[in-house]
Amino acid sequence: MADLLELADVSAGYGRIEALSGVSLRVPEGGIVALLGANGAGKTTTLNVISGIVAPTRGEVRFRGRSLRGLGSDAIVAAGISQVPEGREIFRDMSVHENLVIGAHGRRDKAGIARDIEVMTGYFPILAKRFRQMAGTMSGGEQQMLLIARALMARPHLLLLDEPSLGLSPLLVQQIFDIIVRLHREEKLTLLIVEQNAAVALAVSDHATILENGEVVAQGPSAALAADDSLRAAYLGA
Ligand SMILES: Nc1ncnc2c1ncn2[C@@H]1O[C@H](COP(=O)(O)OP(=O)(O)OP(=O)(O)O)[C@@H](O)[C@H]1O
Ligand SMILES: [Mg+2]
Repeated sequence: MADLLELADVSAGYGRIEALSGVSLRVPEGGIVALLGANGAGKTTTLNVISGIVAPTRGEVRFRGRSLRGLGSDAIVAAGISQVPEGREIFRDMSVHENLVIGAHGRRDKAGIARDIEVMTGYFPILAKRFRQMAGTMSGGEQQMLLIARALMARPHLLLLDEPSLGLSPLLVQQIFDIIVRLHREEKLTLLIVEQNAAVALAVSDHATILENGEVVAQGPSAALAADDSLRAAYLGA
């Protein structure tokens, strides 16, 4: 399969702190790739480089074979990449409906936006029930679902998910991942999923990359990584 996204030898940091050094990874069109690693490994930084929030100091990010260098966040969203940020950054004082509309802010097709709100409440029925509720009053799991739905309102080809399981019960994690897998199948969505919950992420992904201190320490088919006991013990805390 052709690569939808490619990171080639990417380094990035914050001031003098280097957070990523020489990271290369590929996300094939239609694939699910997991990006794993401990706290501070550089997972969020990797997503922020892809979505144009952090500029790489070296290397290149290519989407559909074209460099994203110099493009701002809005242009990258318009190109077809949406990020679900870590830590539930929703608009707390706005309703579920308003949050979804904001997710579509780069679009002009009103009818299409209305249709996609229907599609999203189909995937996440709880959002239909909470449609007029202020987002900040929803439970953690409901907020995570809203965040995913909001990112999808931009109609991305590639969705970057930053720790969707954070702080959720195992049952809710399973529910959210079931919906993510359905979106992948039914909406032809390509996914790059950052997780600390390696078991769940390796179970749903085709390929995985493990980061440590900003460097790639392992990369390969998810099933092979999951079966490697020494790797699991060293990097995945399992
Ligand atoms: N805004 C920032 N300013 C300075 N340093 C930062 C900033 N954001 C991240 N870092 C540093 O960059 C490194 C990588 O952080 P990053 O957030 O990418 O890790 P992570 O793998 O997402 O961790 P976690 O699992 O805790 O979310 C860390 O050492 C972190 O302290
Ligand atoms: Mg992070």
